[in-house]
Amino acid sequence: MSFPANRPRRLRATPVWRKMVAETELDAADFVYPLFVVPGAGIARPVASMPGVAQLAIDRLVEEAGRAHELGVPAVILFGVPDDKDPEGSAGWADDGLVPEATRALKAALPELQVWADVCLCEYTSHGHCGLLDAAGRVDNDATLPLLARAAVAYARAGADAVAPSDMMDGRIGAIRAALDGAGFAATPIVAYAAKYASAFYGPFRDAAQSAPAFGDRKGYQMDPANAEEALREVALDLDEGADVVMVKPAGPYLDIVRRVKERFGVPVAAYQVSGEYSLIQAAAERGWVDERRVALESLLGIKRAGADLILTYFAPRAAAWLKEGA
Ligand code: PBG
Repeated sequence: MSFPANRPRRLRATPVWRKMVAETELDAADFVYPLFVVPGAGIARPVASMPGVAQLAIDRLVEEAGRAHELGVPAVILFGVPDDKDPEGSAGWADDGLVPEATRALKAALPELQVWADVCLCEYTSHGHCGLLDAAGRVDNDATLPLLARAAVAYARAGADAVAPSDMMDGRIGAIRAALDGAGFAATPIVAYAAKYASAFYGPFRDAAQSAPAFGDRKGYQMDPANAEEALREVALDLDEGADVVMVKPAGPYLDIVRRVKERFGVPVAAYQVSGEYSLIQAAAERGWVDERRVALESLLGIKRAGADLILTYFAPRAAAWLKEGA
């Protein structure tokens, strides 16, 4: 009778062994916390489809960001949700818009916290598309670029530590890089949403940011979930145009893309665990079907193991607290 000589279970036998041989470790220092800014003061309006997430007026946003920073979260990414929208999304590129104002307030109160500004028009346009529309109602790529560039410069001028274009127009990284350089912000990094898919997982975000398209969908500019090679081409283009970090979004259903981008390019990769991924976990946890903490941490660990250096997640402060307590 022969027994197995190779017994992987030997190194699984105790918590100490397991920790010593763990290949991947989650770290709050890799988290970026998405926040929604609304006009006014004292407002914290819960987003119904995202339990635990609220639209915040600037004073409350500074508190929430401070709480996250205290727990070890190094960065936030801001989305503006203005009351007034127009076809050009002018609230998105105004120097006194919500994101610049929030950025100034955050940098004044929490100078060590990194503030990233999402760059897109969909939260600011009356039609909810990510770019300007032409006469036929199609998103006009080239007419949109100067507005995105203008938004990025306004955010950099307000003190943003990085700008993160999420619009998926062709050529926007190059346009934004040139505009930033021309305005004296050559040192401001661009985090490019390089492989952003036309995903049903963005549903709850569109409640939070009030940015659902008024007609049609985003399939004409965001990527087809069927494609992986195309994601690599998108990443190559964005790097060529000057992206410093490339993002894959959503994260969980696209871990193969995260891995391939990391292996192919070896650059810093961010993955966005989007609203739908978050809300699915919350909904099941509320029913007692899964353990929120364990499922959230496992989902984040999976994203890290796939190759993400940075993770944008609505769990950021909670996950940071759980990691502190010891998982
Ligand atoms: C804006 C933008 C979206 C998200 C981030 N930036 C929504 C969209 O493209 O419709 C989604 C984030 C999330 O679902 O958490 N273009």
